[in-house]
Amino acid sequence: MKILITAGPTREYLDPVRFLSNPASGTLGYLIAGKAVSRGHQAVLVTGPTSLEIPPGVKSVQVESALEMKQAVLKNFPAVSALVMTAAVSDWRPKQRHNCKLKRKSAWNLPLVPNPDILKAVSGLKRKDQTVIGFSLETDCLQENALRKLKEKKLDLIVANEISYIGPGRKRGRVYLLHPDGKREDCTGFSKARLADFLLKKLEKFAQKKNSGA
Ligand code: CTP
Repeated sequence: MKILITAGPTREYLDPVRFLSNPASGTLGYLIAGKAVSRGHQAVLVTGPTSLEIPPGVKSVQVESALEMKQAVLKNFPAVSALVMTAAVSDWRPKQRHNCKLKRKSAWNLPLVPNPDILKAVSGLKRKDQTVIGFSLETDCLQENALRKLKEKKLDLIVANEISYIGPGRKRGRVYLLHPDGKREDCTGFSKARLADFLLKKLEKFAQKKNSGA
């Protein structure tokens, strides 16, 4: 199976030296990519800036902004059986990226514009033989919000996690795998390595089912 994985944060620059971003480490996406190769699959990792090494055998595409990530995902999606969208994509970017460093000034407002939703763009291109897993990071109403995203983004599965799960080595916070039919699998307490294995096994099952036409 060929699997496309996104990981890490995006950076949305306002001038050459400043950007909006988030603290996503990219750990889970890199683990999924590395383990996919160990299990005999091909992995393409579209990654925002992280401090992690690309796992051996993984093809990587380095990006910074959400717009670059969207372009890389749409380019690679037609050739894969599955997409796992772990990236923490910035929902906004500064309206203007200044070419020169902005000079110190008193209080000011930074105009932002929305970034495209990459998963929504993918949902319009998705074939029946492809599986898409999204993530939902929530501070409240974990399941309700995640289920809404699963439907809006036409996902096969969504991992709903609380904010305390992000960051290196975290095992805290509730983590659920939600299915479109309402089925819920509880992954709370899983290490990221265990969650990566769990998701890869799901993808293998989906691929088997979809290839057998079931
Ligand atoms: N995502 C995406 N494109 C974006 C933002 C998010 O493809 N511009 C993907 C993420 O990679 C994740 C899923 O959508 O797999 C949900 O991301 P999340 O940040 O939880 O939710 P949003 O859709 O951005 O909604 P909100 O920020 O309002 O909770």
